[in-house]
Amino acid sequence: MLNIRYELTKNPKAKPAADDPLRFGTIFTDHMFVMNYETGKGWFDARIVPYGEISLDPSAMVFHYGQEMFEGMKAYRTEDNRVLLFRPYKNAERANNSNKRLCMPQIPEEDFVEACKAVVKVDQDWIPTKPGTSLYIRPFMIATDPFLGVRVSDTYLFIVILSPVGPYYAEGLNPVKIWIEDEYVRAVKGGIGEAKTGGNYVASLAAQVKAHDEGYSQVLWLDGRERKYIEEVGAMNIFFKINGTIVTPMLNGSILPGVTRNSVIEVCKSWGLPVEERRISVDELVEAGRTGALEECFGSGTAAVISPVSHLRFENEVFKIGDGGIGPVSQKLYDTITGIQLGKIADDRNWTVEVK
Ligand code: COI
Repeated sequence: MLNIRYELTKNPKAKPAADDPLRFGTIFTDHMFVMNYETGKGWFDARIVPYGEISLDPSAMVFHYGQEMFEGMKAYRTEDNRVLLFRPYKNAERANNSNKRLCMPQIPEEDFVEACKAVVKVDQDWIPTKPGTSLYIRPFMIATDPFLGVRVSDTYLFIVILSPVGPYYAEGLNPVKIWIEDEYVRAVKGGIGEAKTGGNYVASLAAQVKAHDEGYSQVLWLDGRERKYIEEVGAMNIFFKINGTIVTPMLNGSILPGVTRNSVIEVCKSWGLPVEERRISVDELVEAGRTGALEECFGSGTAAVISPVSHLRFENEVFKIGDGGIGPVSQKLYDTITGIQLGKIADDRNWTVEVK
């Protein structure tokens, strides 16, 4: 258990107005959780302090070699005024898998969840309640040794910040257009693709700029070796409904093991839908797009929730999926998963954790 010190702000900020669109990741609450690590000493000085700038040496290793891990979770306010987190232990587990791959220290899962709960509790009045909104939780860890050689850092900061958010995409729940990228790659097997770390996201930017310029919201990545198999979108995992079967790329070491991805698979199976986690070649997808066998496509992620896809573009061919609207499975998944998150639908799987 953490021994958290509280230093609460004397100057609370104005909270966003009820009709603020809460553009994703632009507004931050009054407080943050911070904890230090040193080799030989372990984690120490767990504290909740006013949200604000942190001071780091310009030579801090995170700035130069990118030794950092981050996570994404959400807190929701229920109609009966409880505060719920969604599967935070899954995030804690994934954070430690990323930490292991990135040679960073483990955080006991209980401490990870306790830190998130503690700061959410302090700033719970920031949880927005308009439909489609939530309080985004961003835990992250950075290497802080002041050193320019390439090695594992001995000191780290673990920080949790909070941001009231609306939908991740400007489109809201409206379908997004996705560009299947055949020039750049995001990750390769044996690399860091399944870790949640900044390097995977900076690797995605050049293709994202290209896709944006062409009017597409995001990039769908192919595998880095053969450029043949579908991987993920970067900000979300990807699902297809092909001839009635829900198909998603199997986890292969270069795909992020999404918590929402796992939830979608479990919920679809509980509805009796056939679900396949397997390799999907872009050729198979193109064929399904051409024949109309591709009935639905959606992304899943903490930030993206369930994000329907209306168009896929590969090389010079554009596939409109269904009628270009929100498919029935996408809509039902969105309603069910957000229903559980908001405490409106019975949580038979004990996925939600109350902040008390
Ligand atoms: C999340 O869904 O929480 C993520 O971390 C994706 C990020 C690109 C916003």
